[in-house]
Amino acid sequence: MGSFHVRPASLTRSSICVFLASASLACGPAAMPPVEEPVLALPPLMWGGVAAEDLDPDPDVVEVSLRAEERALDLGGGKVLPMFTYNGLFPGPRIEAKVGDEVVVHFFNDLDTPQTIHWHGLRISDQMDGSPRIQDPVEPGGSFEYRFVVPDAGTYWYHPHVRSNVGVERGLQGALVVHDPADPHFDLERVLVLDDLLLGMDGNPPPFLATPMEQRHGRQGNVMLTNGQLGGTVTAEAEVGQVERWRLVNSANARTMVLTVAGASFWVVGTDGGRLPEPYRTSRLTLTTGQRYDLQVHYETPGRVTLVNRMTNHDMQGNHVMVVEESFSVSVLDTRRAPTEIVWAPMADFPERAIDRWEEMIFDLVQGDDGLEWRINGRTNPMRPIYTFEEGDTVSLRLRNESDHEHPFHLHGQFFEIAGTANPGLKDTVLVTAWSDVLITAYLDNPGRWMAHCHNLEHAELGMMAEILINPAP
Ligand code: C2O
Ligand code: CU
Repeated sequence: MGSFHVRPASLTRSSICVFLASASLACGPAAMPPVEEPVLALPPLMWGGVAAEDLDPDPDVVEVSLRAEERALDLGGGKVLPMFTYNGLFPGPRIEAKVGDEVVVHFFNDLDTPQTIHWHGLRISDQMDGSPRIQDPVEPGGSFEYRFVVPDAGTYWYHPHVRSNVGVERGLQGALVVHDPADPHFDLERVLVLDDLLLGMDGNPPPFLATPMEQRHGRQGNVMLTNGQLGGTVTAEAEVGQVERWRLVNSANARTMVLTVAGASFWVVGTDGGRLPEPYRTSRLTLTTGQRYDLQVHYETPGRVTLVNRMTNHDMQGNHVMVVEESFSVSVLDTRRAPTEIVWAPMADFPERAIDRWEEMIFDLVQGDDGLEWRINGRTNPMRPIYTFEEGDTVSLRLRNESDHEHPFHLHGQFFEIAGTANPGLKDTVLVTAWSDVLITAYLDNPGRWMAHCHNLEHAELGMMAEILINPAP
């Protein structure tokens, strides 16, 4: 069982700042373009990208400032591109809190398009969720203060929710980690934000939603990125016996990833909604857009450990092509140290809940007057809620895909489980493959107006976006 003498979240934040200062990188919002943190003899607790500076000394308050601005960034190998950034960084700074903390975000929009920030997966108030149906988008030059308490430990992320297909592709995305002080102490926790980017013949991003290909498949990139750096170039060192937690985020617009860790043994220990009661082993992990997984990775032999990503791509004719990418690799050195022991405190299974309602959402595609329309229950982007529920309802929701394309379905502000599946854990996003049904059990415990949409961001932009209403309990 993990025993702590220091609060891990505050320890994490301060140690990162000390580490960054000693590596002569700025620690904070005005930091430099992303530079992969060099490997240290004594690893910091967290690795991957740059941590956001906490402006509030109160250990239970995390106060950060995020400024959306355009910045030319080197994505590695001398590939410099004008990106949309938070604080000049891509991905944006990693926000870290511990469960129950208050998070305050001072957001400034220095881009020339309206923006909101959505805190993907967090069960917070709908007023703070970044939904443009609730919050007036922040105009260029404007600002907004987000303020919420993080109720659940886990791996989350943030991104805009106005023309998100453009914003996320151009770089507006960042990880948000909520620590549980009761979790065991790993040698290191790595945040790996996995993305792709589409570059045209001239090396620049082509226009958005301009081709039938992109309207159908979503914008699938031809360049893979890990923490904002060209895939395969992100490397680190570790020791035999080291045990790490990897927090994986798929921030791509439209690309499902099939991952494995080669050269090490690993367990799945967490999903979108946090820790699993029963960690499991698997040979490959399907990570669709918007989803997260937490892995516990054991380095048992010296050599190379690689995060391998096998994906289906589409060529210009729409044919399937397999792509294999090494997203990240670690050289594991044999220093003959004893393996770190990781002991998780026992955790009860999620309680069984009786179903209160049965509903369904049907995803399909029609040819509209102005191009393709992606629909939920026969409508594109209806402004009124398609269902009204009561707080605390347990709803069995059938997700029916009546199209040739997959849909990563995302529900804001709630968790659900996939019914009758070998894919356990709390989720906020689930992949519904072409012409298939997925049955989920949704725990509607967070009242408000909540978006329910496809996380293929092009599909969402072309109509696959709805809202449900959850009335507060009297
Ligand atoms: Cu990450 Cu509504 O989305
Ligand atoms: Cu879709």
